[in-house]
Amino acid sequence: MQRKIPAHGDSRSAVTAAVKFTGRDVQPDATCPPFMKMHPSFPVLATPRLRLRQIRSSDAEALFAIHSDAEWMKWYGVDPVTELRQADQLAELFASWFPAGTGYRWGLERLADRRLIGTCGLFRWNKSWHNCVIGYEVARDCQGQGYMREALTAVLDYGFDVMHLHRIQAETHPDNIASIGLATRLGFRFEGVHREQAFWAGRYHDLNCYSLLAREWHQSAA
Ligand SMILES: CC(C)(COP(=O)(O)OP(=O)(O)OC[C@H]1O[C@@H](n2cnc3c(N)ncnc32)[C@H](O)[C@@H]1OP(=O)(O)O)[C@@H](O)C(=O)NCCC(=O)NCCS
Repeated sequence: MQRKIPAHGDSRSAVTAAVKFTGRDVQPDATCPPFMKMHPSFPVLATPRLRLRQIRSSDAEALFAIHSDAEWMKWYGVDPVTELRQADQLAELFASWFPAGTGYRWGLERLADRRLIGTCGLFRWNKSWHNCVIGYEVARDCQGQGYMREALTAVLDYGFDVMHLHRIQAETHPDNIASIGLATRLGFRFEGVHREQAFWAGRYHDLNCYSLLAREWHQSAA
């Protein structure tokens, strides 16, 4: 499966990202269509500069560096971590989605130096309604280099083509300009405001709701 990923900052040029799935499809049975099943092994995705892989406990320090940056993560939706132990728990939580069958969280490993520069994922997988929520964060010193758009292009391909999702939702704080810019750049459409939907930093926050449908994603690739 291949999709053209526009090079960062140049929407006219394109590079080809090979999306590789290392897992094999599980055998279909009578009770559940095959696309609703998780792969038996975690799906590793390849993009030109990144390897998207399962998160492991050894990622805790890299996660701590990102998630303890309170100013950078102020609109992320969760209080920043203050101890390495919390980053351990975060790695465990992200890794648990796959075996639980509720979604995937990929670690973004940069090919050039094998550093874990961020994560992204599809979660709250509603298998009856064929939808998921998308989430993402990259290290502050890696921002604005097109990494997350590159990663999410592969993740959206995976969500729509392999998980057979119909709709992917993004929820972001109205002041999170970078996240709104990213979602919009990928074709997500604004739907409205979820009033006081989230709670962090000691108070409730409104969240903007965006969505992308499978047909819109496929049309944008055409
Ligand atoms: C949101 C976030 C993941 C973007 O990651 P990134 O790797 O810097 O984004 P990219 O470089 O791939 O940018 C892709 C597009 O997003 C938009 N964008 C990125 N940063 C932006 C900014 N500061 N202002 C406006 N638009 C921005 C642009 O449209 C950009 O398109 P371009 O490539 O044509 O310039 C990053 O800012 C982040 O991790 N923030 C902290 C965590 C967070 O808030 N996560 C989201 C929770 S909802």
